[in-house]
Amino acid sequence: MKPSRNIVLIGFMGTGKTSTGRLLAGRLGRAFVDIDRKIEQENNMTVAEIFARHGEPHFRQKERDVIARVSRAGNAVIATGGGVVLNAENMERLRSNGIIVSLTASVDAVLDRTGRRNTRPLLNRPDRNEFVAGLMAQRAELYQNADFVIDTTNSSPRQTVEKIIAYLRQEGYING
Ligand code: S3P
Repeated sequence: MKPSRNIVLIGFMGTGKTSTGRLLAGRLGRAFVDIDRKIEQENNMTVAEIFARHGEPHFRQKERDVIARVSRAGNAVIATGGGVVLNAENMERLRSNGIIVSLTASVDAVLDRTGRRNTRPLLNRPDRNEFVAGLMAQRAELYQNADFVIDTTNSSPRQTVEKIIAYLRQEGYING
């Protein structure tokens, strides 16, 4: 049987890509791939360590490498890091074999969700609030460029999964 297209979650940090992706993969009986975790495993370092030791361009190179590999195989649910949209080639690759689902959330929701843990190197700064608002505005258009966009501000990952499944059914990507 021909492998089905990947379901690719894009969105800003804290929009729920990882938790939603894991649940969605479970519901669909598909493999779950989290790009950031894969980079961490392959490099034996956390994303924060890669940024600190080697800098952001090095991380972006690792990200491009992993995206190129995982986009080729099908049948998976893929949760990306918030910055994959910055590179047009990443998006072309993901799109060529995938359905792009974009998760959005308000600035306040993102600040609240990302404030609980200190694992995101980009947000580790004193002007965090202004920085998040600015970066979200700067990237907003890129996150709108998707097959399906869902605002997760007032939804749990479980509720978001239901919306994604309804969309996939409606479009005939999944049966049942
Ligand atoms: C980034 C988002 C992070 C991670 C890295 C850079 C970004 O992923 O890839 O810290 O540029 O938005 P999450 O969106 O999973 O936090």
